[in-house]
Amino acid sequence: MIKKCIAGNWKMNLTRAEAETLARGVSGADTSGADYVVCPPFLHLDTVLQVLGGTGVSVGAQDCAAYDNGAYTGAVSAAMLKDIGVSHVIIGHSERRTHFNETDEMIRQKVAQAHKHGLVAIVCVGETDAQRTAGEEQKIVETQLRDGLPDSVTCDNTIIAYEPVWAIGTGNTATPEDAGIMHDFIRTWLEGRFGDDAVAFRLLYGGSMKPGNAADLLAMTNINGGLIGGASLKADSFLAIGGVV
Ligand code: PGA
Repeated sequence: MIKKCIAGNWKMNLTRAEAETLARGVSGADTSGADYVVCPPFLHLDTVLQVLGGTGVSVGAQDCAAYDNGAYTGAVSAAMLKDIGVSHVIIGHSERRTHFNETDEMIRQKVAQAHKHGLVAIVCVGETDAQRTAGEEQKIVETQLRDGLPDSVTCDNTIIAYEPVWAIGTGNTATPEDAGIMHDFIRTWLEGRFGDDAVAFRLLYGGSMKPGNAADLLAMTNINGGLIGGASLKADSFLAIGGVV
């Protein structure tokens, strides 16, 4: 039985004071049934770490650089994140792929950096509406997995998040059946690459997950948690999602 993981992606939201308040709100999370991770903007990581240190709620970043250090203006390295106490990092979110032109090759380098510096990578994959309509969703996800996961990946240092692009921030959640089919597909693909270890990978669903639909999604065999955007910006809705596990 895989322990569920409920991760919050705060995206580019919240002032420092708001981030601190939200961190206090989630600090009492009951981590006996599920692990919790919150991913604030870089600028608020330190503040949130101070609130959540010792609570059992982990803190992640939303991205890291593909390089060790040096002349990469504006970038933040995995080593810097590790140094301040961050444990997780989201990599390859569809918003990074779309707005920042991130390719699977860049994502693979970033995931390798995360592992090199002892971070757990939450690697996002998922198809667009047009790709699903064309029946290409599994082909797209397979390519993202094959090209985005470096040799350093293990079931302990990597979490896979299936986030259909058409479901992110739209209110259009994938049905539990459709999400379940993709999660089963991902598990089978992982078996081909990682053999017996495949069963231990945590596969999160993301895309308009909220308290009202979380129970049905999390009941699917291969959905081991959620990556939550909008509903993670309120402590009560974020914790309520974990509460249905
Ligand atoms: P959403 O975002 O829950 O607001 O759809 C999910 C995500 O982008 O990780």
